[in-house]
Amino acid sequence: MIVVLIGYMTSGKSTIGKMIHDRIGLEWIDLDYEIEKREQKTINQIFQEKGEIYFRKKEREVLSDLLKVDNQIISLGGGTPCYYDNIDKINQSAISFYLRVSVSILTQRIKLFNANRPLVKDRTDEELKEFVAKHLFERNLFYEKATFIIDTNDQSSEEITQEIINKINKKS
Ligand code: S3P
Repeated sequence: MIVVLIGYMTSGKSTIGKMIHDRIGLEWIDLDYEIEKREQKTINQIFQEKGEIYFRKKEREVLSDLLKVDNQIISLGGGTPCYYDNIDKINQSAISFYLRVSVSILTQRIKLFNANRPLVKDRTDEELKEFVAKHLFERNLFYEKATFIIDTNDQSSEEITQEIINKINKKS
């Protein structure tokens, strides 16, 4: 079984991916990290030196390779399901979970933890909130195609992990 975690930046894809790995032993893979390994550059360097279109092509290539390997949980990048036919490819080979988080929580977390990500750096607080609201609205079209949507706003990481494991167990 392949499990894929989808969601906006700071929605918890990596944290929850690791927790599910610890609980049920599926191998955990972080797509951004795999891209960085292959390119021998950070995501920021790839965006700066080669541009977003190059990044999206690489992202798709690495995703396609990863989806060929069984028994793993993959944490995607925030934009991965929104380019090419990636979301359809994902749903053909995997069970996908969208970790849904409100705009205000995302904005706070991005300010605290992810202010240097290529798509959000150099924005004021007000601009950041507007950007996230609009961006999430556009991306929701793709995110909501996930097999399951998990509302994470009022849940601890343990509760989210348990909800996903329950759903995985029912499917297998
Ligand atoms: C991106 C999210 C990032 C990374 C890149 C682009 C996006 O991943 O793939 O900076 O388009 O939302 P995280 O969601 O892991 O921060």
